[in-house]
Amino acid sequence: MSEFEYKGSLSAVTTDIPVTEPQRQYYFMGKVKEIVDEKTRDLGRPLTFHVTTFGCQMNARDSEKLRGILLKCGYTEKDDEDSDLVLYNTCTVRENADNKVFGRLGVLHGYKKKNKEMLIGLCGCMAQESPVIEKIRKSYPFVDMVFGTHNVYMLAEILYERLTEDKKIVDVRDKADQIVENLPLERKYSFKSGINIMFGCDNFCSYCIVPYVRGRERSREPEAIIDEIKRLVADGVIEVMLLGQNVNSYGKGLDEQISFADLLRRVNEIDGLKRIRFMTSHPKDLSDDLIDAMAECDKVCNHLHLPLQSGSDRILKDMNRHYTKEKYLTLVDKIRNRIPDIALTTDIIVGYPGETEGDFEETMDVVKRVQYDSAFTFIYSKRSGTPAARRDDQIPEEVIKDRFDRLLAEVRSDGEKKAGALTGQTLPVLVEEVNKQDKSLVTGRLTNNSVVHLQGDESLIGKIVDVRLEECKGFYYLGDRI
Ligand code: SAH
Ligand code: SF4
Ligand code: F3S
Repeated sequence: MSEFEYKGSLSAVTTDIPVTEPQRQYYFMGKVKEIVDEKTRDLGRPLTFHVTTFGCQMNARDSEKLRGILLKCGYTEKDDEDSDLVLYNTCTVRENADNKVFGRLGVLHGYKKKNKEMLIGLCGCMAQESPVIEKIRKSYPFVDMVFGTHNVYMLAEILYERLTEDKKIVDVRDKADQIVENLPLERKYSFKSGINIMFGCDNFCSYCIVPYVRGRERSREPEAIIDEIKRLVADGVIEVMLLGQNVNSYGKGLDEQISFADLLRRVNEIDGLKRIRFMTSHPKDLSDDLIDAMAECDKVCNHLHLPLQSGSDRILKDMNRHYTKEKYLTLVDKIRNRIPDIALTTDIIVGYPGETEGDFEETMDVVKRVQYDSAFTFIYSKRSGTPAARRDDQIPEEVIKDRFDRLLAEVRSDGEKKAGALTGQTLPVLVEEVNKQDKSLVTGRLTNNSVVHLQGDESLIGKIVDVRLEECKGFYYLGDRI
């Protein structure tokens, strides 16, 4: 028998365990809390936890769910990984994301050797890949729990099993059986929050692992989203980020006919909410109605992230992106005509298999023409299981490096040219935190997502203040409150 035990559910053993969610998980939170309280008494100190998040906003949101559950279980949150329970909520979108996690697991092992209470869990996107599970089993036997993206909500149940049965748990499912609402959740910021509007992805871009590790696209009911935002607003949230791998296809599969544009309009109506952001918009189904909704809705921020990936029609076709260079550029024109001062940002992959110098030039051409406010540039990373990884025309590293450097230089110089465009204007800034380097300053964002530093203290955190932008220093502004 393997050291890891696959455990499905405990309901067969005990009869008083609720079968419906979220009641079942609240039951297990109570059971774990009994154990945690007892250990706390025995040890004469609180049991601590730390959740380390890798990857995108979806993972950040899942981590808030994990933290909410652990606090309910009686654990105390600690700032560092020298804790009694450490969860790695992982990302696998590029190979270096995986490597980072494997590297850091070694450090955790060091802590564990000194603390016999310590439990280590690995969850999130990496856990959905069977080679990762094999590797953990073989080389990282000190990991106590592995669970995937589809059963994040089951943390208390998994933890209870680990604490009561002395064996390691691997509980990874290949699809989500349900969307579990109303679990506890501990937000990172008091004044802003991510909200899942949908899960998974059906686009299968040829390079991308996300559809395999996050499963099929599922939209949440609009009422559930609106109710959640209303509750957040009542709790002090003024900015929300609506989250989905492709928010533009929101609503597919729901009984009610509703588009993302409709949802935006409904969210915009919520009293007390001040700012709405969303992530990510796929260019293939960004509708005219959505552009109208963005222009009309006063709370929707002046920023659109519109991933390009490549400017070459040939590569875009192979990537399965369903748009052409011309279609993308037309879309950008349409958006800028309707919302002239909107900030545009993007994602670009360099060195996709078969990318020629000509293909790369097409990408550079789009970048030069669009003049993005900023762009995330990625070196293509081969993800096993994806169609692009099976191609035999992978690009040599030195060619990719050269193209990557040229692209980065262009992106930087475009950003610099645009930076400073707002100097002299007075604009609302949502203050997010005390400046890390200079404690007399606070740092916030304009609706176009630009960073602004101004004089102030922590009493301003979570407030929107009018700031005159005095000076632009590279990628941020210095301003004065008026
Ligand atoms: N759903 C979002 C993207 C999520 S992944 C969208 O479609 O825009 C975030 C970014 O990672 C992608 O936009 C892409 O640029 C990059 N990415 C994804 N897979 C990659 C890979 N195999 N190699 C390099 N970059 C990749
Ligand atoms: Fe990946 Fe494409 Fe889905 Fe984005 S839309 S998550 S890039 S498959
Ligand atoms: Fe990474 Fe998973 Fe997000 S692979 S980018 S954490 S959906």
